[in-house]
Amino acid sequence: MVLPDNDFGRHTTAKLNQILDRHGRNAANLLQILHETQDHFGYITPDAITCLAAQLAIPRARIESVASFYSFLHLKHQGAYRVLFSDNITDRMLGSQALMQQMCQQLWVEPGRVSEDDLVSIATTSCTGMCDQGPALLVNGRAITRLTHQRVQEICHLIRNRTPLADWPADFFHVSDNIRRRGLLLDNQQTPGNALRAGLALGGENTVAAIKQSGLRGRGGAGFPTGLKWEACRNAPGTARYVVCNADEGEPGTFKDRVLLTRQASLAFEGMTLCALAVGAQQGFLYLRGEYRYLLEPLQSVLQQRRNTNLLGKNILGQAGFDFDIEIHLGAGAYICGEESALLESLEGKRGVPRSRPPFPVTHGYLQQPTAVDNVETFCQAALAVQMGAENYRAIGTAKSTGSKLISVSGDCPRPGIYEYPFGVSVREVLQDCGAVNARAVQVSGPSGICVAENEFDRKLGFEDLPTAGAFMVFDDSRDLFEVARNFVHFFAHESCGFCTPCRVGTSMLKQSMDKIAAGHGTRHDLAEIEHLDRVLQTSSHCGLGRSACNPVLHTLKHFRPAYENRLKSLDFEPAFDLDGALARARLMTGRDDTGAHLNAEES
Ligand SMILES: Cc1cc2nc3c(=O)[nH]c(=O)nc-3n(C[C@H](O)[C@H](O)[C@H](O)COP(=O)(O)O)c2cc1C
Ligand code: SF4
Repeated sequence: MVLPDNDFGRHTTAKLNQILDRHGRNAANLLQILHETQDHFGYITPDAITCLAAQLAIPRARIESVASFYSFLHLKHQGAYRVLFSDNITDRMLGSQALMQQMCQQLWVEPGRVSEDDLVSIATTSCTGMCDQGPALLVNGRAITRLTHQRVQEICHLIRNRTPLADWPADFFHVSDNIRRRGLLLDNQQTPGNALRAGLALGGENTVAAIKQSGLRGRGGAGFPTGLKWEACRNAPGTARYVVCNADEGEPGTFKDRVLLTRQASLAFEGMTLCALAVGAQQGFLYLRGEYRYLLEPLQSVLQQRRNTNLLGKNILGQAGFDFDIEIHLGAGAYICGEESALLESLEGKRGVPRSRPPFPVTHGYLQQPTAVDNVETFCQAALAVQMGAENYRAIGTAKSTGSKLISVSGDCPRPGIYEYPFGVSVREVLQDCGAVNARAVQVSGPSGICVAENEFDRKLGFEDLPTAGAFMVFDDSRDLFEVARNFVHFFAHESCGFCTPCRVGTSMLKQSMDKIAAGHGTRHDLAEIEHLDRVLQTSSHCGLGRSACNPVLHTLKHFRPAYENRLKSLDFEPAFDLDGALARARLMTGRDDTGAHLNAEES
């Protein structure tokens, strides 16, 4: 051990050894090890890195590189209280920016900085998945929702008095489920194990056949047929197979997996176990987004209940050789880790950079072994489909989109929350149910999805028309759709993992163009440049994030062009850099402000 042989060194070493032992001293668990290290020491200290590198036999550089990738991990002290305001457009619409300003003023700290007494830091983070009860923030990873000026004042008081989080009022941390409309899935009251018994009666191969026959398609966004995925995984050569549940739920405006993991966790685990039966896996992982850390303990106890009732573990439900168990891994604030191959990298304790595909996870997934990665809702739906029979399941929804879909409704409506519908429901029907009046646009499936204007409200949710992972953000006629698109573009620039140049540079250029237009310096040339950028990103980005980064601008431009054109300085070319403006300081210093001290467009 390389740490000093004094009390400090001994304490650090002993604590890290405990953490390492809990994670099998396995470098594939590095992200989980770093989470716990930070929990204990406040941040990932240089001493801790030295010790972990030695114990895991990996270079320090790998630990630093992983830690610096994730926005919830820190290599420097961030204060005793780390406050992160959720910065989704729906939080902003509910006044999050003014609340953050209030907190910064009351605690005497600049946004993005640590206070001089090391007490607190305040910054923003991407959507925390609480859009139905925003504005929201995270304090030391714990979500507080329904913020008001009064609540912010109380939080400041607690921070100033250094009150431990455990002693803060419990109702601050209460997260409501806000279920507004139930269906097949949210009404489920089946005894745990029933779907699994039905699967065991069918056998692995026929379970795959039943899922294919049910027409089930993935609920994570892309809508890939689940049965085909499971079949490919089952048939792929490999020494071990894995089942991974994608609970990263990072798309702004989406929060249905949060509610499913609160209300139907056992069903999600049942779907994973059914998948294990179908593909022949012995190990599963649930990758839980860091923002939902408060769900970790309840989920662990659901897993334990399932182990106690032989629904997980060895010889499940008495079936000799059917062994399967599930571990929960916690993400750390990186949206890109929702992309399945980035998620697998993260599960392996690496930076969440998407892999080149093919090969796909079904043949080369976790540790390069066949892996079925599915969304939380997909696993729940799979369990229901097997339990009720493929034909009964197929009868719900539409021909190409069978079953039901959970919709996360937020924005300008009096009843935000979770709505479950059979696929094929129209945008208008959802708007009516959530009480939206004067709706001007709906952003379906988050920033990477589609902006639907009033004249399209009869369009239907489903893979035939409007595919969606679930987000449904409502904007009424008081909203500026340009500002909505600008918020989304900032989101993509912030969340780009930086691996490939077109996306790293392109999302940043896109952000600059939108900021330029917002500042009143834009021209038509900038709009044309954005369309050009879209072509570049579409054709040369490594993953779906880059490919969809221009969507918010292109869709809002199509429907709300005046929101852009009213801001343009001129309709002709305008340079991005204001040369004359840049000379203003020099003019002040020299005291010259005559014509010769200015550069006009012709001269420059
Ligand atoms: C940038 C990006 C982010 C994604 N985020 C998520 C996510 O948060 N949750 C999810 O289930 N799928 C997400 N996906 C889709 C996954 O890559 C993958 O398709 C999905 O987990 C497959 O599960 P399914 O077939 O059940 O939908 C994302 C994709 C991309 C490109
Ligand atoms: S497209 Fe963007 S997010 Fe995807 S790999 Fe490239 S840089 Fe990363």
